[in-house]
Amino acid sequence: MTRAIILSGGWGTRLRPLTCTIPKTLIPVLNTPVIEREILMLKKAGVEEIVLAVSVMSRELKNYFQNGEKWDVKIEYTNEQSPMGTAGALKLAESFLKDDNFFMLNGDVILNFNFKEMLTTHNKYGGIGTIASRLVSNPARYGVLIIKEETQKIEKFLEKEKYALTGDNRDKMPVNAGVYILEPEIFSFIEPKKKISIEKDTFPKVAQTGKLYHYSISGIWKDIGKPYELLNGNILLMKDILKQSDSNEENLIKESADIHPSAKINPPVCIGENVIINKDCIIGPNVVIGNDVYIEQNCEIKESLIYQESYFSQNSKIEKAILSDNCHIRKDVILKGIGKNLIILASYVEVENEIKLIAPSTHSITVCHHEKVKNNIIN
Ligand code: GDD
Ligand code: MG
Repeated sequence: MTRAIILSGGWGTRLRPLTCTIPKTLIPVLNTPVIEREILMLKKAGVEEIVLAVSVMSRELKNYFQNGEKWDVKIEYTNEQSPMGTAGALKLAESFLKDDNFFMLNGDVILNFNFKEMLTTHNKYGGIGTIASRLVSNPARYGVLIIKEETQKIEKFLEKEKYALTGDNRDKMPVNAGVYILEPEIFSFIEPKKKISIEKDTFPKVAQTGKLYHYSISGIWKDIGKPYELLNGNILLMKDILKQSDSNEENLIKESADIHPSAKINPPVCIGENVIINKDCIIGPNVVIGNDVYIEQNCEIKESLIYQESYFSQNSKIEKAILSDNCHIRKDVILKGIGKNLIILASYVEVENEIKLIAPSTHSITVCHHEKVKNNIIN
């Protein structure tokens, strides 16, 4: 096994307006795109050639990864004119993947487990496919796996609403973690040139043959599908990396960051290259700041993701917010989310002096790219 396919062609609707300018899988997680993290993990497991199944915003993905040389892997692309569904996208890569078993990944999950061990388990079971499974407490949002404990076979694969229909509301269930090892035989289950979902159509059929297995994973796993999950996933991964590191560091801060001695850093935070933090700022806990961000004096940022090249003028207070790249927050601004309801600014948003955006308890506040915020929203 030396090959893999990563799905990267969905619309990313639930992450709008962030995904209006960045494809979902290129969204940074601790300042590295979520899909790039997956590519590095695949490489560690010995994968040398990867096909990216792209569709929506394919140009951005191709520009970023090109032929993969920079990562020392060979990257190819299949291009769907419009999204062909998860199985339709796989079918397009049949000629690339037909000779040996291969990894297939959803491009939007944060994970940290040993792919090699999964391959050993797959080879031991000898099925058509092995699906990484993860026990979660809100299963109806995922593909739920009904498993026969004695054999580790997946008896039923119930994608979202199919599971909801069963009326089962157990607390925790194993769900599809979006990582598969598949044998080329899988292609005989997928009709060509059709929009087909692997979760709704193909896996339920393979399960009926008794040749679909699961591989239970523990440790960090998060689908970044919704803004709060994206924020939470960053924080979980940051804590996980710090816990596993040999050093006693409490933060992930690049050496080129310039932090004024009077600024207070409350761990954990992740701070990128060339970030400048001026005097009396309070940063953290649970903050990720991208490269080339400039923060003037006396700003406070906590529980937030700030992408690259944003600028904060003095005295701004930011809490539970996600700011895409190149935002400009002027003086004395307050951005404050509450619970899972965040303040979400897309790329190049400008917020004028003294503006307050405070999320209500019912939904997030979102601002589209290149907008200028001139009015308060206070609920
Ligand atoms: N190329 C291509 N074409 N990619 C697609 C298409 C398509 O038509 N549709 C979706 N994708 C990609 C998305 O970009 C994403 O990387 C991945 O396939 C999964 O799609 P999502 O839209 O994120 O699905 P989900 O999160 O609701 O559910 C999926 O992931 C869960 C785990 O994270 C399912 O696989 C669930 O069964 C699973 O539990
Ligand atoms: Mg997803």
